[in-house]
Amino acid sequence: MKAEERREIWESLGVIEDWLSGGARRPAGPEPDFVAAEAAAEAADAGAPRLAPPRPGDSLEAIAAEIEACRACRLCEQRKRAVPGQGPAAPLAIVVGEGPGAEEDAQGLPFVGPAGKLLDKMLASIALDRASNCFIANVVKCRPPQNRDPAPDEQAACLGYLRRQISLLRPMAILCVGRIAAQALLGGSEGVGKLRGKWREFEGLPLLVTYHPSALLRDDSYKRPAWEDLKLFRERLSPDA
Ligand code: URA
Repeated sequence: MKAEERREIWESLGVIEDWLSGGARRPAGPEPDFVAAEAAAEAADAGAPRLAPPRPGDSLEAIAAEIEACRACRLCEQRKRAVPGQGPAAPLAIVVGEGPGAEEDAQGLPFVGPAGKLLDKMLASIALDRASNCFIANVVKCRPPQNRDPAPDEQAACLGYLRRQISLLRPMAILCVGRIAAQALLGGSEGVGKLRGKWREFEGLPLLVTYHPSALLRDDSYKRPAWEDLKLFRERLSPDA
């Protein structure tokens, strides 16, 4: 990506930030060193363990069909629809959430309830959308009753599907929204407050953690850090990919 393209993105993100903070255009802060950022990202990538290759003959459709027939854990018992994921086959990015809620369970699509509508707006603010360049998935593909957290054994039973999706999709970066997704892919027990704001890695792929959109709907104070995370995420993506 050329430095000038990076600068244009940076400037347009500044306009959105000003709009979000409800004010007029503020003087721009110091511009990042785009060339150094690119070199640092490449150096960090060198030698990192790489993502497993996709299984021979695997496809998003085959994974979805297996998920729809899956009876590997108790979550299948109450589901109306399984929710494999949604998005293009060659996305720039993958967003990983926790698991379907009531709306998702009814429609068989991820993030279509109130949190999903906000997620779509958050993604649109950094030029991502599920129709063209961003795949949306969850750790568990069936709704946990009463929207409880998916249990560790339920996550373990389902995680292979997400791994296969990631292997096929090979995005430039993964955005984990919320604690469950972050812990499922990174391991450990730290919360979003500790994990967010800094690039992590999932099998050699850059991974960023931010707050779940439902947290933003509950508490306005998460909006500013979430916006900072989104800007960081956008900077890592190549606009011409
Ligand atoms: N919350 C999630 O984590 N995933 C969905 O698909 C919907 C809401």
